[in-house]
Amino acid sequence: MGGDLDSSSALSAALDTLPSRPWLASGGALVALYILYNQLLPKPLPGIPYDKEAAGRIMGSIPNLVAKRKRGEAARTFFPELFAGASAPVVQYFMGPWNKASVAVGDYRTVQELFVKHGKDFGRGHMMRTMWSNTMPAHFIGMEDDDPRLKRVMALGRDLMTPTALYEVNAPASYTKVLHHIELWQRKARLAEGHAFDAYDDLGMLTYDIIMAAALNIDYSDTQIARYTAYLDREPSIKLPNNPGSSSQGLAVFPPVELPDMLHSLNSIALAAGASLSTPFPQMYHFFNNRKPHMRKAYHDRDTIIKRYIHDSVRRLEAAAAAGSGGGTEAFKPGSAVDFIVKREATAAAKEGREPEYTSDTVIQIIFGYLLGGQESTNTTLAYTVKRLGSEQEAQRKLRAALREAYPEAYARRGEQPALRDVLAKQIPYLDAFIEEVLRVHPPAFGTSRLAKRDMEILGHKVPKGHMVFTAFTGATYNAKGYLDKERREQLASSSSHLAPGDGVADWADSDFAADEFHPERWLRVEDEEEGGGGGGAAAAGGGKGKVSFNQKAGPMMSFSAGPRACWGKRLAYLELKLVVTLLVWNFDFHRLPPELEDWVLDEELFVKPKTCRVLLSSAWDV
Ligand code: HEM
Ligand SMILES: *[C@@H]1O[C@H](CO)[C@@H](O)[C@H](O)[C@H]1NC(C)=O
Repeated sequence: MGGDLDSSSALSAALDTLPSRPWLASGGALVALYILYNQLLPKPLPGIPYDKEAAGRIMGSIPNLVAKRKRGEAARTFFPELFAGASAPVVQYFMGPWNKASVAVGDYRTVQELFVKHGKDFGRGHMMRTMWSNTMPAHFIGMEDDDPRLKRVMALGRDLMTPTALYEVNAPASYTKVLHHIELWQRKARLAEGHAFDAYDDLGMLTYDIIMAAALNIDYSDTQIARYTAYLDREPSIKLPNNPGSSSQGLAVFPPVELPDMLHSLNSIALAAGASLSTPFPQMYHFFNNRKPHMRKAYHDRDTIIKRYIHDSVRRLEAAAAAGSGGGTEAFKPGSAVDFIVKREATAAAKEGREPEYTSDTVIQIIFGYLLGGQESTNTTLAYTVKRLGSEQEAQRKLRAALREAYPEAYARRGEQPALRDVLAKQIPYLDAFIEEVLRVHPPAFGTSRLAKRDMEILGHKVPKGHMVFTAFTGATYNAKGYLDKERREQLASSSSHLAPGDGVADWADSDFAADEFHPERWLRVEDEEEGGGGGGAAAAGGGKGKVSFNQKAGPMMSFSAGPRACWGKRLAYLELKLVVTLLVWNFDFHRLPPELEDWVLDEELFVKPKTCRVLLSSAWDV
């Protein structure tokens, strides 16, 4: 990944030394070069703070990013430093002579206002477009809003986030996968004899099984967990800390999992997309990367594996249509994402009087995007969740107590699982609050960018059309103090309507809970604090004083982004997290890890993820 940056720094050094070469200092050539040089220099927008040094060289801020990577610091630390350096919520930076000045905004309310209210004034922008149009060109994720293909492509996937798909297809598939996972961890905890073990691969397996089941309706025998369980049966070469050849750190080490082709494919494509973020020449990077053997294999496997499932789905659809009256597709009941898409394509083709294109790149990539979107993001979020369960003992206790109160019958019959329909129906404020807090403190995506499609004003600064606007989902106002003081905020509130009262705090630093600490309680509201009746909330049901509810608008949180191009899979993500967290906490007590096993070091790929994820488990029925 670093190679592209290094070559760019050489280029940048060359460009920046050009005008000072004495042998060029002759008359017209010098003038021409001087003009060219000035044209290539960054052109700061008036009034918005910037790094003077970066503005004085053709490559702008890129050398800062390069140096950062060389020091082993992640790209995501660049933005907090920009805001801190200027002590302002709006700053600008310069991504080389081929880009106009970019504007970074570090204030939740402002971004919310921009992305939601003025969402139509923003385009996808080259950052997201380059990432995805080079890896999944037929998926809508990389398409501009005015791309003529966008509507049709999005329509194909329209059914996948509906309540029917979520509750009747995803949820049952996920539930059984989580139960298998729990059996695996019960077994591992026993074999580990009181030692911690690595949880990352297991969580990855779980998310993979869940998303594969939802996407392709795979059989148990095709799950990773089935393969892994069979493997453990055959070859239980577990290394315990006090055995010879053991790890030094007090970890029980289990044999590693074998990754299936599809997972390799997902990982390679996600990595390539993510690498796009950290190279100054993403287009060139993809041009060469896409020609490498492992990428060719990744695309090939993606297409052949998904095609197999599509063919199977089409066969079932045609059988159902033949059996049903009138030969229509109504009789076909989708049992997976592929089924939904195949049915949609069949219906669309019939309506338009054409042959269905079941195995088009679009169909394949919508399905692949569903897998990819659901895999790393959830793997990452679950890793943070499990780490927090261990490190936040008090919150874990409260969460378990809330679950036991919500499922009294299952609790009374110790060892029984809460039924799926109950898990789907119950509102458990502390559970929602816990999940929300994990996502606030640890947003898997560190930010996003958009292209300003018309001139706009951001916190009093003019940003003309054609400039990129970047925003982080972490840092100022989210989990650190922001740069707008209360007075300035009030002043702004009186001049625009977006800072409506009742939308919680604008900056977590102004709340009762320290912005950088983990407190699910910040998302809870006691009903009798809310005056004035019937605000149309779901929380009104049951009402009553002292009733605690989950308040998602309590303060800044933007981990799924906002506006028309926010996360498409958000509802699926919440559903999965709710199911997994419920069942994990119901069944296991997550102990605090010994200090030498607990760290909060982060890795930056497509997502920002913890480097390690370990668990030390015992049965929840002992507490
Ligand atoms: C905790 C889990 C997840 C997080 C934190 C997350 C976060 C995000 C973020 C930050 C964006 C970018 C939005 C923007 O640029 O403004 C995004 C977009 C997207 N996400 Fe997620 N995501 C998660 C789970 C999922 C799941 C489960 C799926 C699908 C199964 C999914 C599919 C997508 C798609 C397709 C887009 C592109 C939307 C568009 O182009 O309009 N995500 N997600
Ligand atoms: C989940 O993330 C961890 C850490 O990056 C990785 O080792 C593992 O392979 C991932 N699992 C899957 C299935 O993607």
